[in-house]
Amino acid sequence: MLQFETHSEEETRKIGHILAQRLPARALVLLTGELGAGKTTLVKGIVEGLGAAGADDVSSPTYTIVHEYGEPVRVYHVDLYRLDSAEEVRGFGFEDLLDQPALLLVEWGERFPQLLPQDRIEIVIAATGESSRRILVQGLH
Ligand SMILES: Nc1ncnc2c1ncn2[C@@H]1O[C@H](COP(=O)(O)OP(=O)(O)OP(=O)(O)O)[C@@H](O)[C@H]1O
Ligand SMILES: [Mg+2]
Repeated sequence: MLQFETHSEEETRKIGHILAQRLPARALVLLTGELGAGKTTLVKGIVEGLGAAGADDVSSPTYTIVHEYGEPVRVYHVDLYRLDSAEEVRGFGFEDLLDQPALLLVEWGERFPQLLPQDRIEIVIAATGESSRRILVQGLH
């Protein structure tokens, strides 16, 4: 398990750059943590670190559900917060994304455990202060 401490949004993006070097090109990555923990911030760093887009071009897919980055697409960023049932998650095509040869970064995916393959990487972000966070990464070899 990898563990990081961060004390600012910028530092969290830099941790994203470090993770970008270590993540496989194809994987399911579950990001968990409370509202405002820093999941989207870390995704900005990962996407930027991969060179798939600039951090400023990465925004939360809360309403759009999925954003794509890279040309051809190398990263899908999904936010399941607004979806209420596994049927809705299937309905927007989540399972098709799992079949893509890409990095699939998912926020609020733990709400639908029955849809998640066992083979995945989990990143847990916890606030330890107003601007400090602990980031744990499991399943990254
Ligand atoms: N060390 C830190 N790392 C990341 N974000 C931080 C940190 N300290 C403060 N913040 C603030 O916390 C917020 C993190 O927001 P972000 O959208 O990344 O969270 P999220 O986990 O994706 O939330 P949501 O569940 O609503 O999608 C931002 O307002 C950011 O400025
Ligand atoms: Mg978010």
